[in-house]
Amino acid sequence: MDKNNSLKRYNTFGLDANARDIFRVRSISGLRKKLKDNDLVIYILGGGSNILLTGDVDSLVLKNELRGKSIVSRDAEGVKVAVRSGENWHQFVLWSLENGLAGLENLSLIPGTLGAAPIQNIGAYGVELKDIFEGLEAMNLETGKIHFFEKEECQFGYRDSIFKRELKGKYFITKIFLRLQDAEKAKVSVEYGAIRQILEGKNITQPTVKDVSNAVIEIRQSKLPDPKVLGNSGSFFKNPVVSKSHFLSVQQNFPDIVFYDLPDGTVKVPAGWLIEHAGWKGKRIGNTGSHARQALVLVNYGGATGAEIKALSDEIIASVKGKYDIALEREVNIW
Ligand code: EPU
Repeated sequence: MDKNNSLKRYNTFGLDANARDIFRVRSISGLRKKLKDNDLVIYILGGGSNILLTGDVDSLVLKNELRGKSIVSRDAEGVKVAVRSGENWHQFVLWSLENGLAGLENLSLIPGTLGAAPIQNIGAYGVELKDIFEGLEAMNLETGKIHFFEKEECQFGYRDSIFKRELKGKYFITKIFLRLQDAEKAKVSVEYGAIRQILEGKNITQPTVKDVSNAVIEIRQSKLPDPKVLGNSGSFFKNPVVSKSHFLSVQQNFPDIVFYDLPDGTVKVPAGWLIEHAGWKGKRIGNTGSHARQALVLVNYGGATGAEIKALSDEIIASVKGKYDIALEREVNIW
């Protein structure tokens, strides 16, 4: 494997591994040309904030560097925005705020690129990408053709879309269309308790979207470790969803368990709570561990290997399963 193709600076865990080939995608035509004479398996890389490298990657890694964003149109339903998929998510959120647009404020400071956002339907503080999503363009990696996906076709769910399932590895997302609102007319949503608390603490009674964004940034910075300081990939696990009957039997033994009833009758349980109460929060094993301020974030204290982090996650999964009979699923992609 070519040591010049190190992926270390391309993943927020800061793990070292090499790829067979890395191609920086800067144009659609350049990508199409590259694909024509490629016979390697393809891996797509955005901001590298949701991957765990467990070894060298014997593949072509496409590093998405497609840039550009613009306001497409304004009408009674809002402001349509188009953005190319290699843009950094948070820079894009800031751009929308500077342009007087509302809709992205609760999703401030999420790491990664635009292209990764629809794949796992990113979400935070009561808002998910699907709430503001209109459609996307993606290149079929086999034919090189661009296909437009309507929102329904993307089949969004909690941290889920068709691009994680049936179409996994088949398309390279190139452009995303969102429907935002004029910030002056928009209703600002502060239903999420932690956001309301911060605004009240600052005596802000009529928050602007910028105030909400600042509150979200404050909460995230207080709980989530900065990957530039401590390698991590945000939530390592998804919050598990269980049936009501299963939940009730767990709750009998653990009456303090935190939970959210979902509209379809199932129950979502925060993985952070389960991991903390299984005794893992802040626990360090070798060069890795569960973060002291947010148990569902696994961190690299420096020098950890992907295999070591994966082994810790296996141990946590087994321990939570043993104690609560609930199966945790990883949110990160293992390479
Ligand atoms: N909790 C604990 N111990 C912990 C962490 C959390 O008991 O160590 C409890 C909290 O007290 C709270 C509940 O779990 O009652 C939920 O915690 P929090 O509001 O911090 O959110 P989360 O469920 O842990 C999810 C997302 C985050 C997102 C936040 C805010 C997932 C897997 N994670 O975390 O997304 O920022 O909600 O909306 O859905 C990410 O995906 O990388 C991510 C950071």
